[in-house]
Amino acid sequence: MSEGIIDRVMRLFGLKAPAHPAPPPRRVVEPPAEPPRPRVVASNDIPSRSQAAPSPVKDDNIKSPVIETTDANAEQPQAPHEHKAGGRNGMTKVTMKVNGREVSHEAEDRTLLVHFIRENLGLTGTHVGCDTSQCGACIVHIDGKAIKSCTMLAVQAADTEITTIEGLAKGGELHPVQAAFKEHHGLQCGFCTPGMIMAATDIINRHQGQLDEKTVRHELEGNICRCTGYHNIVKAVLAAADTMGARKQAAE
Ligand code: FES
Ligand code: FES
Repeated sequence: MSEGIIDRVMRLFGLKAPAHPAPPPRRVVEPPAEPPRPRVVASNDIPSRSQAAPSPVKDDNIKSPVIETTDANAEQPQAPHEHKAGGRNGMTKVTMKVNGREVSHEAEDRTLLVHFIRENLGLTGTHVGCDTSQCGACIVHIDGKAIKSCTMLAVQAADTEITTIEGLAKGGELHPVQAAFKEHHGLQCGFCTPGMIMAATDIINRHQGQLDEKTVRHELEGNICRCTGYHNIVKAVLAAADTMGARKQAAE
């Protein structure tokens, strides 16, 4: 119902129509004042540094940053020398027993044992098959334990006894593990074979006749062979374990 109708109905019934509230006064919104425009000055209006007015803020506690200059000819303090091996110019004389013979050679402190064995001692039967310590081609025995010789420095192996593949045969006779690999054709290209044989010898020594196929496969996980499919390698290790166990019993 519109407002006019209400008024008329109220008049008919002799009633006074309610006063309509006055409309709110209109607010006049002023447009925002324009921001002052920056004054464009010609370059010759800009005061030089010497003419520039001093800063109105002067606080004696504020210190200007000190920029230290370095004199290339001045002697710089040296970082403490962190060379642990103690050699001169990063070279250290490394002495160890390899295949029953005492050897001594200067080597850079960063030289890996595998490179020391191959390049300084000329024992190239120990191979390098990867850059990631995965393949096991570099395994030698250090103090009777199989170790990947690419995982340690030559200086760390100082004063230890090392056996490489060249030192396994004795008196011109193949080690039982070497003989078993030959007999069971546990190799094809032969690249992994030195590491496999050194690892297998350690496995047999540690398990003392308790070896089965599953254990051999598990223990050889750190040795990679790209050729054989491992079947004949496992057969050779089991056969060598039997031979070594029988020899040990006979010796007791
Ligand atoms: S060369 Fe040492 S594990 Fe591959
Ligand atoms: S025989 Fe070739 S990599 Fe093992």
